[in-house]
Amino acid sequence: MPLKIVAGNWKMNLLFHEAEALIREVIEKSPDNENAPLNIFAVPFPYLNLAQNLTQGTKNFAAAAQNCSSFKSGAYTGEVSASMLASLNIKYCLVGHSERRTIFKENADELVAKMNLLLENHIIPIWCCGESLNERKQNKQFDVIQHQMNTEVFTLTQDLFEKVVIAYEPVWAIGTGLSATAEQAQEIHSFIRKSISKKYSDDTANKTSILYGGSCNVDNSKELFSLKDVDGGLIGGASLKSDSFVKIISTMYELL
Ligand code: 13P
Repeated sequence: MPLKIVAGNWKMNLLFHEAEALIREVIEKSPDNENAPLNIFAVPFPYLNLAQNLTQGTKNFAAAAQNCSSFKSGAYTGEVSASMLASLNIKYCLVGHSERRTIFKENADELVAKMNLLLENHIIPIWCCGESLNERKQNKQFDVIQHQMNTEVFTLTQDLFEKVVIAYEPVWAIGTGLSATAEQAQEIHSFIRKSISKKYSDDTANKTSILYGGSCNVDNSKELFSLKDVDGGLIGGASLKSDSFVKIISTMYELL
């Protein structure tokens, strides 16, 4: 069975003191035992050490970076390398979030380089994919996601692929309050799992965690997390308040 994961992606939000209070509150109010899901805080770079220290020693909480450099090291002002993340004991990093793809023009080659550097440094990439509104309107969502998989995550060997977590985030659902319906989410998640079966094996597909992201919140998380091929969520806005994030974590806990 795939690992069940509830991950919060803070994006460029919260000040340092707010970050500390939020992580402390979420850990304090959430179940922390062997039956609980893995809960991840994907925080801005300056808060990684804090998040790492606060989650260390818990059973179910971990810190993640939201990005890393596609270069190994050297004269790249402003960049943060995978090995730097590893030196802070960070175990997870988002790769290819649609905001990175659209605003920062990240392409497949860069995303592949990032995933390989992360995996060399024993960091699990949380690889994001998803179609835009225009692509969905033209019924191109399957082609778009297949192409993203073929050119990015499917370039990995089976061994390395098995370490990756996938997040399906339809771009039209991110930050819009308009979530994919249960039917739409299940359809794409099942498509992703079948593609993994074809590319690697049924066993690999059945072990891969596929998270849903895009306006996932307290009200819709139960329906989404109950779907056969949805193994958790990547939560933006609703991860910025302890009450809502704790409720979403508890929803997954109750379903396990
Ligand atoms: P929202 O939950 O705010 O729609 O953001 C989703 C997301 O982009 C998570 O990475």
